[in-house]
Amino acid sequence: MKEQTLALIKPDAISKRFQGLIIHDILDAGFEIKAMKMLHLSQDQAKAFYEVHKGKDFYEPLVAFMTSGSIIALHLEKENAIMDYRTLMGKTDPEVAASGTLRHKYAETTRRNAVHGSDSPENAKKEIAFFF
Ligand code: CMP
Repeated sequence: MKEQTLALIKPDAISKRFQGLIIHDILDAGFEIKAMKMLHLSQDQAKAFYEVHKGKDFYEPLVAFMTSGSIIALHLEKENAIMDYRTLMGKTDPEVAASGTLRHKYAETTRRNAVHGSDSPENAKKEIAFFF
């Protein structure tokens, strides 16, 4: 059965003009783009999106980074979309992300890690509704 997920292209990737390459890789991996938009998150929006990480040491810098420039939100569809997109992204830390993954190719650090993807069907539903 087709599954839905939410992907973000983060400010570091956009400032390096990697958005076209990332969207190309997403399409090449067989995902359908059901909806897509570019926006600049407010502080309140970024805090709400990452609320699950509130209280962690990286929360405030993460919010600052995510509001430092525009992002692109994509509603993706594919069989096994959640797991397959997470495989395409690679591990959170680009230093350990597998070769060929988006984070290995386009990310700088664990914080400035180019892309986000939903981690469960419940969060995918919430995150898609957050943006679309
Ligand atoms: P993302 O998949 O968007 O989900 C939470 C984000 O928090 C993660 O990608 C990173 O950008 C950031 N993050 C997670 N762990 C750390 C960490 N240890 N240090 C800094 N940033 C982190």
